[in-house]
Amino acid sequence: MSTETTTATPAAASPYSRKNPFPGRLLVNRLLSKDGSGKEIRHLEISLAGSGLSYETGDSLGVYPDNDPALVEETLAALGATGEETVPGSDGQPVPLRLALLRHYQITQPGKQFLEAIAARSEGASVIKELLADPLRKDDLAKYTHGMEVIDFLLTHPSIRFAPEEFVKLLRKLQPRLYSISSSQRVHGDEVHLTVAAVRYESHGRPRKGVASVFLAERVEDHMPVPLFFHSAKHFRLPEDPATPVIMVGPGTGIAPFRAFLQERQATGAPGKNWLFFGDQKAAYDYLYREELEEMRDGGVLTRLDTAFSRDQAEKIYVQQRMLENADELWRWLEEGAYFYVCGDASRMAKDVDAALHRIVETAGGKTPEEAALYVEALKKAKRYRRDVY
Ligand SMILES: Cc1cc2nc3c(=O)[nH]c(=O)nc-3n(C[C@H](O)[C@H](O)[C@H](O)COP(=O)(O)OP(=O)(O)OC[C@H]3O[C@@H](n4cnc5c(N)ncnc54)[C@H](O)[C@@H]3O)c2cc1C
Ligand SMILES: NC(=O)c1ccc[n+]([C@@H]2O[C@H](COP(=O)([O-])OP(=O)(O)OC[C@H]3O[C@@H](n4cnc5c(N)ncnc54)[C@H](OP(=O)(O)O)[C@@H]3O)[C@@H](O)[C@H]2O)c1
Repeated sequence: MSTETTTATPAAASPYSRKNPFPGRLLVNRLLSKDGSGKEIRHLEISLAGSGLSYETGDSLGVYPDNDPALVEETLAALGATGEETVPGSDGQPVPLRLALLRHYQITQPGKQFLEAIAARSEGASVIKELLADPLRKDDLAKYTHGMEVIDFLLTHPSIRFAPEEFVKLLRKLQPRLYSISSSQRVHGDEVHLTVAAVRYESHGRPRKGVASVFLAERVEDHMPVPLFFHSAKHFRLPEDPATPVIMVGPGTGIAPFRAFLQERQATGAPGKNWLFFGDQKAAYDYLYREELEEMRDGGVLTRLDTAFSRDQAEKIYVQQRMLENADELWRWLEEGAYFYVCGDASRMAKDVDAALHRIVETAGGKTPEEAALYVEALKKAKRYRRDVY
């Protein structure tokens, strides 16, 4: 990891883009969560040398993953194919079937076209036929197919034979995945850092792997570049005035952009105060970037560091509880003009943090729920309440 301060190259200088991804070389792949954690969170450093690419803090990195080669082979076997058959790739150009399944098409979660083909070709009545026939039962269909992948349907319907070209035409295009950048380019120059949770779970009796997160976690090596591009997030930048205080709420991998923010504020000598709320399951295993954060706190870059380890005690404690415990001070920061940032899980955390913010404005700010809603709305309008949630 370099610590030298460098200047970003203008993006216009680079021939690389989403359509023409840069092959980034992996420099570091380190486990951040400790053995014994319920999760596998990794810190990755990728070289941008020779790309002419630049990014800003708050941006995300787009990654084009390969599917799991073992799943590709299993799919080929289920299809009774050799892999050498020529099929149209996702861009319409002819490619061997093996490559198409590896790089062009989504072979994990099936799309509607594939499910419809299975239903149309299976004999007799079936749940899938029933659910597909009724547009009002979309949710039931999603529940029924939850945790099921293309391979499950192929293995449970061995009498259905798909010709290679017909099969790929039923699949969706393999999409790139976005990852919040956890480094400041001002500090790390030709490197980009990521904080990735490897998605692994079991469903219907089979171990499953998230396509991109496990591609990054276990398959990318020196000889295999990461096809990447930058995704600009203008809504998630640091305040233009370096004296503005910032409050950052980033549990789990939500810490990623805030590591970048703090590096940037440190490198530029920004005088504004910085307050980070971090949370995860257990302090002993899941305190991501602990040494770096404590060093920043001890060195004064981080004015306040509040943590919430949900599974270190009988009752769950989450970041929003730490916010509420510090309601008066958080309110004072807001009144001083602080920007409020949230990153991480969209489905539950971001909603609960939003509710806690309203509560703080009510209790510490002495406002009614209606006035608090207007206050938070005004924060959003002034672009002082910024979120990057997924
Ligand atoms: C702006 C943005 C920033 C992001 N930043 C980060 C980041 O910094 N770090 C990070 O790790 N991620 C981040 N993500 C999420 C990331 O983009 C991917 O969505 C994530 O890594 C999963 O992708 P995958 O290809 O590994 O999994 P996929 O192959 O896409 O698999 C995920 C799918 O698997 C299924 N699934 C998952 N768990 C289960 C289960 N238990 N049971 C049944 N089915 C299940 C679901 O259908 C789910 O949609 C970010 C996303 C966005 C949009
Ligand atoms: N859609 C979902 O249901 C779901 C759930 C979890 C994660 N994810 C996704 O999984 C990926 C990786 O997650 P991650 O490991 O980075 O972090 P994470 O699963 O979001 O967990 C980080 C911390 O947040 C806590 N947490 C759980 N619910 C919360 C809530 N309502 N409010 C505040 N904190 C809460 C967790 O506690 P506990 O785990 O002890 O409850 C944990 O301590 C992300 O992409 C995330 O979006 C999705």
